[in-house]
Amino acid sequence: MEAKSPRGTSDILPGPARVWQRIEKTVAQVMASFDYHEVRTPVFEHTELFTRGVGSTTDIVEKQMYTFDDRGGRSVTLRPEGTAPVVRAYIQHRLHGQGLPQKFWYIQPMFRYERPQAGRGRQFHQFGAESLGSLDPVCDVEMISIPVEVYRRLGITGFRVLLNSIGCPKCRPGYRSQLRDFLQSRIDSLCPTCQSRLERNPLRVLDCKSESCRRATDGAPASVDHLCDECDAHFAQVRRLLDTVHLPYTVDNRLVRGLDYYTKTVFEVVTSALGAQDALAAGGRYDGLAEELGGPPTPAVGFGAGMERAYLVLEKLGLTESDRDDVDVFLISLGADARLKAVEVAWSLRSAGVKTTFDYTDDPRGERSLRGQMKAAGKSGAKLALIIGEDELARGRVIIKAMASGEQRDVDLEAVVPQVLHELGGGGDGAR
Ligand code: HAM
Repeated sequence: MEAKSPRGTSDILPGPARVWQRIEKTVAQVMASFDYHEVRTPVFEHTELFTRGVGSTTDIVEKQMYTFDDRGGRSVTLRPEGTAPVVRAYIQHRLHGQGLPQKFWYIQPMFRYERPQAGRGRQFHQFGAESLGSLDPVCDVEMISIPVEVYRRLGITGFRVLLNSIGCPKCRPGYRSQLRDFLQSRIDSLCPTCQSRLERNPLRVLDCKSESCRRATDGAPASVDHLCDECDAHFAQVRRLLDTVHLPYTVDNRLVRGLDYYTKTVFEVVTSALGAQDALAAGGRYDGLAEELGGPPTPAVGFGAGMERAYLVLEKLGLTESDRDDVDVFLISLGADARLKAVEVAWSLRSAGVKTTFDYTDDPRGERSLRGQMKAAGKSGAKLALIIGEDELARGRVIIKAMASGEQRDVDLEAVVPQVLHELGGGGDGAR
């Protein structure tokens, strides 16, 4: 049977990988502009980190985690999201002693057992950031601005920022019971899932996609109308700051998020380009999480953004074609001795950072027709072809042919590296 990758995983082949590299580079540059610092955490963690951190009644913990016992009988889980691991690392390494806020970013694979579809995988990647240790609303606005700036630099347009505040342990219980009463009076119109979660998590009913739940929740009490003074002032300042940095947003009373750790600000960046999987990025404040995980009280805020979804939008917008990675030099040789010389020259060019390749052949001595090699050189997109025949070899020369113009010259073999660097205009990859 032909080997296949597991359902919900995907290979990133060389063409798309170049686009991924562009996204990754842009993320790193934007993070640097905002003075965030990269962290890398393990692919698996103790299962308890997520059951406690993300919340035992969330979809992630209830149905989506890749959890298994390792050979020592410890339950471990492949990271389904990036926030709890970063907070764990912050606590474990006592980073709160080093000046606050501590500002981190990451690009990492995540694992969730979901029903795969376009933009939704079982292994997917997020770029994200977490700012730990400050209640400053400027931190909230940084988290919304960073993905937006990444999309702007990549040329992604047509997204919207949705914003809400879901309060804190002081004001949310009062809101939750009002909402529950409201929903209780319409329980017959709710879908079975929402009927069952009404008691445990009535807020999630607000973002149910089923038509009947949407109708039933029209006119439901809004969390922003039930905030305590502190949460209300925080939300007002977040909005004022978003206006100050000219970042348009819509307050969406239905936005509640599917992870339990959120307090105050929640947000999503959504696009209509992706169909059902419309969230490009999402996040919010989680002022109680560090304490929940055994650390000191630590106000914090962050976001996570789907890399695959950013890629899909770039593809939709026709912005994935431009990432070419053509070779600089294609070496052509005639005869076994010239082939050896060509290999020697190629290694010198590669050492100098020039992207160099050949026409590979199954002939152990490297014999191949000139026509075949010229054809391969043309196909490769190389800027220069270097030709070494028996005659050139005898004279210690090499022919350099500019592929675009067809112009060619004959240079001393000893001088070939500087000459190639010169013709490529300032050097190969390493020198440019
Ligand atoms: P999340 O909403 O679960 O939040 O995921 C954030 C983003 O990851 C989504 O908006 C989407 O772009 C992408 N994503 C999620 N699941 C998948 C999937 N199965 N396939 C492809 N892409 C997916 C979090 O994970 C939080 N940790 C975000 C956060 C950071 N909040 C505070 N700090």
